[in-house]
Amino acid sequence: MLTGRWDVDADFEVIQDALYRHLVVVIKGQKDLEPENQLALNRRFDPGATSYGHSNNSQRRQGSILSNRDGITIPSVPQVQVLGEGPLDTSARSWYKGLEGVVMRHPTHQLFHRHHLSVAELAEAKTRFYRWHIDAALYGINPPIVTTLLGISNPKGEPQTVVYDDGTGGSLGISRGATAFASGAEALRALPEDLRQIALHSSVVYAPHPYTFISDAKAHSTGLVCLSEGLEKPLEELPEWDESKLLTLPMVWTNPVTGEKSLQIHGACVWKLLVRKNDTEEPTVVDSLSEVRDLVYKLMRPGIDPPRVYAHTWEDGDLAIFYNRGVWHSVTGQDFGPRLMHQCNLASPIPIS
Ligand SMILES: [Fe+2]
Repeated sequence: MLTGRWDVDADFEVIQDALYRHLVVVIKGQKDLEPENQLALNRRFDPGATSYGHSNNSQRRQGSILSNRDGITIPSVPQVQVLGEGPLDTSARSWYKGLEGVVMRHPTHQLFHRHHLSVAELAEAKTRFYRWHIDAALYGINPPIVTTLLGISNPKGEPQTVVYDDGTGGSLGISRGATAFASGAEALRALPEDLRQIALHSSVVYAPHPYTFISDAKAHSTGLVCLSEGLEKPLEELPEWDESKLLTLPMVWTNPVTGEKSLQIHGACVWKLLVRKNDTEEPTVVDSLSEVRDLVYKLMRPGIDPPRVYAHTWEDGDLAIFYNRGVWHSVTGQDFGPRLMHQCNLASPIPIS
């Protein structure tokens, strides 16, 4: 965590090194960071990247976290999104011009999970992980390397408790509206040897237009995967798609600075798996969604055990920078109250390795 004055030119290498080693870096006191400068910071990490990590509005509007419900593009810097809760005060900053009348809605588990917390549980300040994910379109373009998330104003109020409701009794105390992070490297280390070998040698095929594909599906109580209830959109009802744009990514990605291996799966958007246990065997194609999700859940669940989750408590002006190819993250919380954040990530020209 960095505090005080910083200079993107003088301090960049320190920040970049810290990011690759620690995965999440928070710089305090950045409330006035302008969208253009936030974009410039993202580009420092990935100079060849130009466009937003979710490529286009139409895809985002069909079910990703950044649906039109909660993600709004800044007109003058379309790579930066406004997230939050409540009406956007467009008189506050010149870059909100054109967004008059916008009302932001931050997602909660009720929008995605099959079973919701009861009124009594909500009254006890219980909440869930909304959706564990990597920021990525997962169709046609490479996942962003870095996401920057600026918490301009943040929810205030009593702490809440994430409940896992997965039979383990797992729970995690968090501050209201915390962003949860899990390390993909820790997740890989947490696996028993047989599953670790599968992770190291297998790949995931993501669905065509994955967020549209799952737009009617509902999630498991941990927010790790969708339930297999046959609610995915039939392929013929998806927007036109092209086989060549499907993304097949290894389950394990390598950190280019530390060499550390990290389990990186977007559990909600998986479609098929190419499974093998070692370098020599031919991959088995698993194309039954329920089998795919069962295995992905087994691979991912240890990574979010309560001691392995860092839930960031936001203070106004915090700029969180995270290595999107080495962490998973999730919204948490209920009843946010007013909130305003700026988020930027860029589709990378650099493929996953
Ligand atoms: Fe995200």
